[in-house]
Amino acid sequence: MPTFYINPVNLIQTLTMALDLAVDGVSLHQRRTAIICSHLAEKINMPVSDEHVLLSAALMHDIGAASSTEERKKLADPNMGWDRNDIFQHAENGYQLLVNSGTFLDVADAIRYHHDHWQGGNPSGLSGDAIPLASRLIHLADRIEIHTKKVGPILHNCKRVQELIREGSGKLFDPDLVDVFMDCSLKESFWLDMIVPDLAGSLNDKMKMGTTPLTLFDLLHVAEIFATNIDRMSRFTATHSRSVSGVAVFLAKWNGFSQSEIYMMRIAGLLHDLGKLSIPNAILEKPGPLTHEEQLIVRQHTYYTFMILDQIEQFKTIAQWAAWHHETLDGKGYPFKLNDTALTLGARIMAVADIFVALAENRPYRKKLPKESIKRIMTSMVEENKISDRIVQSLFDNFNEAQLVVHTMESMSFLSHEPKVSLASV
Ligand SMILES: [Fe+2]
Ligand SMILES: [Fe+2]
Ligand SMILES: [Fe+2]
Repeated sequence: MPTFYINPVNLIQTLTMALDLAVDGVSLHQRRTAIICSHLAEKINMPVSDEHVLLSAALMHDIGAASSTEERKKLADPNMGWDRNDIFQHAENGYQLLVNSGTFLDVADAIRYHHDHWQGGNPSGLSGDAIPLASRLIHLADRIEIHTKKVGPILHNCKRVQELIREGSGKLFDPDLVDVFMDCSLKESFWLDMIVPDLAGSLNDKMKMGTTPLTLFDLLHVAEIFATNIDRMSRFTATHSRSVSGVAVFLAKWNGFSQSEIYMMRIAGLLHDLGKLSIPNAILEKPGPLTHEEQLIVRQHTYYTFMILDQIEQFKTIAQWAAWHHETLDGKGYPFKLNDTALTLGARIMAVADIFVALAENRPYRKKLPKESIKRIMTSMVEENKISDRIVQSLFDNFNEAQLVVHTMESMSFLSHEPKVSLASV
């Protein structure tokens, strides 16, 4: 079993970039929140290990809202009024996503309370010092980031943001931490650090963190968390990533991949639609054919999958296997227009797995297709030089086994696991 030497916070900050994707680009809200947290942590002399937990949590604090483009938009809007219950839901969802992982236990706690008000009245029943320090810091940093306008010179906004935060002192925010912020924010560099072109590099420099050995199992676990978010975007694709991953694993096995390559294929399958987090739910759920404009938006998703995964040095192969699933052998796919000379066996497997699973699943505009129709469609795609003859043949040779993967995944609906915040103590 190969071991990957990875800087874990770097891995998280790269993958969580998917949460900051929007149709019109990347917002970097979580990275900026983490940068602000790093300033505050430095000022209060936070121990390094606590700071790593803080920054990891800051980088994925809104992970519980990842599956809803509407909610993410709302979270990024400083003027959006919140129903008292709503704002806590994504914090609880984020906690539930991470709590069962050994790796992210502390991070899960920090995320759970990141909107808790200092003065109390929270669903958690916590107030003041009882709210974890990391949650108090993220709450404050999150509001600073949201209130800092991203248009116009950033230094024009300092005063306004300082006043807004000061108003919340002792009510929304820990008053001692507000004082820390006031102190830090006297430096122009505090604000300018938020708009450096290489936020990732700057965060890494501040952390001075080396690599940690992670096994494929560890990475698989992280990929599972993201797959859950991706699949929750639409009830029609509630288990799509897991099904594609499962079928791709079988295809890899039937085509002679080694054990560690099979694990890599499983991760690639779970993350193949990572960039889908940029597509509005309304498009994914549309009960009819997409307009040309909507199709163009959908085409963004594999570009983002590649752009994110390829940033991780040890994920170069996984990035190709995951993100080239809409490329075709005749060079007319998207987004890179690669052809049969460039498309590797792993990428060809993912394309076949994705098409097969899509045809075997229900869609808003059609029911799942029977075996004969799936075979007819895939055979004609081979004839048109879209997908690999060899891979499709191995699928047809084991058709029932592949279909069982999709049916088994479908029978486990992850949507029914939506956690709800208990408001009993509000
Ligand atoms: Fe949040
Ligand atoms: Fe946030
Ligand atoms: Fe896709």
